[in-house]
Amino acid sequence: MLHRTLFAPLGNPLMTTDLLVRYLHFLGIFVVFAALLGQHLLLKSSVPRAFVAKAQRFDLAYLIAVVVVIATGLLQWFSGAKPAAFYTPNPVFHAKVTLFLVVAIVSIYPTVFMRKEKNGDPDEVVAIPRGIVHCVRLELLLLVVIPLLAVIMARGLGIPIEKP
Ligand code: HEM
Repeated sequence: MLHRTLFAPLGNPLMTTDLLVRYLHFLGIFVVFAALLGQHLLLKSSVPRAFVAKAQRFDLAYLIAVVVVIATGLLQWFSGAKPAAFYTPNPVFHAKVTLFLVVAIVSIYPTVFMRKEKNGDPDEVVAIPRGIVHCVRLELLLLVVIPLLAVIMARGLGIPIEKP
């Protein structure tokens, strides 16, 4: 009996797609966090170039995960279980998306730096500008706030109430 309740949604293709999209949204978020944490651990004030090359590989995983998060976010917004009208008027939802865009913009500087510095003698010591470390930290900090906004807006909190 329990297994029927548990797996009932899988009989419905729309439900299955919805679950898959939600799952990928979470998976993408995990990879974004993991990649940034990896970069944060690797990029200290001066490190061998091999570390920069490793951090740049994390950046590729980060970029792919960002695309997955955006694609699955848009899918949930425009063809998810709830209508788009559930999200569109909600400022909390807009704050969430805007914050993510800010994270993407902040990530440009470290991305460009790593691409430039990854090639060369792997043992040579590279000085990492403070700004790079600060950008990665800021991204992590902003990303911690986004899930809070997500759970708030998913419950419909923040939707403006129309006065009669
Ligand atoms: C362009 C970027 C994004 C868009 C358009 C987007 C959109 C959405 C939508 C429409 C949902 C469904 C909410 C519901 O169940 O009603 C959702 C869920 C969620 N999103 Fe995003 N999202 C984006 C980025 C992110 C990021 C970067 C994070 C975290 C760092 C995140 C965390 C979550 C979480 C935790 C949920 C589940 C909320 C819940 O079910 O309680 N999203 N997102």
